[in-house]
Order: sequence, then C-alpha cells, then structure tokens
Amino acid sequence: MLIAQLSDCHVVVPEDEFNELYHPADKLIDAARHVNNSVNRPDIVFLTGDLVNTAKREEYEVLRDILPTFEMPVYLLPGNHDDCSLLREMFPEHDYLPKEGKLNYVVDGWPLKFICLDTNIHGKPQGRLGEEQLDWLDQELKAETARPVVIMLHHPPFKTGLTSMDEMGLLDMAEFAEVVARHDHIERVLCGHLHRAIQKLVGGTLVQTCPSTSHQVRLLLGENNALGTTFEPPEYLLHYWTEAGGLVTHSDYVKDYDVAWTLDGEM
Ligand SMILES: [Fe+2]
Ligand SMILES: [Fe+2]
Repeated sequence: MLIAQLSDCHVVVPEDEFNELYHPADKLIDAARHVNNSVNRPDIVFLTGDLVNTAKREEYEVLRDILPTFEMPVYLLPGNHDDCSLLREMFPEHDYLPKEGKLNYVVDGWPLKFICLDTNIHGKPQGRLGEEQLDWLDQELKAETARPVVIMLHHPPFKTGLTSMDEMGLLDMAEFAEVVARHDHIERVLCGHLHRAIQKLVGGTLVQTCPSTSHQVRLLLGENNALGTTFEPPEYLLHYWTEAGGLVTHSDYVKDYDVAWTLDGEM
C-alpha cells in the first residue's frame, strides 16, 4: 500500500497577494497531477492541515474545485489556518468528517488503521488535543487489536528546534506522548505544520512531519529564531507499507525530474 501525505497547501483566491508570492492553488493542482501520474501512484491521499491560508469561504471554494482532480480517495485534516465549521460545511461529500464536535475520524478498509485528530484551536496558531480527544484516541488504540495504527494530526507533538514554529506548537504534547507510550502497535505519527521534513521519537514511536506543497519554512534553529519561508521545491511524503517491511517513509518532489538512467527499465 502507498499512502501520499501532502500538507500545508495554504490555498488562497487568485487575487490574494499571497498568491503572487507562492501560487499555492496552482501548486496543489501540480501536486494532484503529479501523484495521479506518478510511477509510485498512491492508493490514498491525506492532506494534513492548513488546507487554506485564512479560513475564508472563497478559499475553500478554490480547494473544492481542486480536490476532485485527485484520482484516489482524499482525506482532509484541519490545521491552525483552517476553520473546522466551514470545512465541515463546505465538504459534505467528505462524510467521514463528524457532523458535530471535533473533526476526529478513523479510516478503515486498509491493512493499516488511520486515526486522524483535530488539533485546531479556533483563531489560534497553537494546537491542542484536550482530555476528551486523548481519551478517544486511547480507546481507538485499545479497540484495534489486528492492525498497526498510523496517527495523523497537524501540530507535531515535539519541539523541533525551529523556535518560531515551536511557539505555535501543540500545547499538550506531553499528554499525547503518554497515550502513545501505552501502545506498542502504533506504526507512525504523521504531522504537518512545520513545512519541513523532521523526525523524532515520541513515546517510543517515530513522528514525522511533512513538507509543504506550497512554500517551506526557513531552517533557522535555536537562538536563530526568526520566522522565514523559502522557495525550496514543493515536496510531499510517500509512505510505503508492506506486511513484511512495515511502513517506510520517502519524500518526493512535486516537480518531475528527468531520469538519468534506469537499468533495464523503461519507466
Ligand atoms: Fe502551514
Ligand atoms: Fe500550521
């Protein structure tokens, strides 16, 4: 099984200044075209939050026109730039999204169980899960005895060293880590928000963040804590699952590069 994780598309309307700088909607269209035509075509796509930039209805309308261009099932998670009520209202065909309350859900029907969590605090850049969601996560983990589990949430549950981004981090990361540490069948925790690929062990499980399909956050660590963005290439993650090998994570660029050579291959 191949799972594509695309993140932080930050879609805006064409006349937005942000569009002049980053062209996020065009880049998401490119990303859809890329995964549809890839030699490593995914079975399923997750967009791990910050789907639009300023949570406006018109931005979700732009997104609504792009999503059907993906030729495989797409699942949406909210980020801090999203409005959960609008998201639910604007995407009724995404009927895995609960009709009320937080946008937590489970994706079944695959060799892995996917548990998706809503870290959005309305109007705030930080994220929080809270006791109720953490209890729900714990119950869902206990309920799954047959398959490995992948947990997805927008805000990563660790300090990344990109100090300016860490200030907009998950407020209850310690509590999340406690739940994770109780279960030994969590294959991976997958996040967005950082606009970079970063890994860390949390509660004994590898957590991986995803680059953006739009723009990346400048790599400034520790004391060097200004917030900046770069035009590093749009990128996404491909998680390759086999029963024998477990889950292996690769990154791929959205832009197609020429193949130098492939031994005995015609791909
Ligand atoms: Fe973002
Ligand atoms: Fe974010």
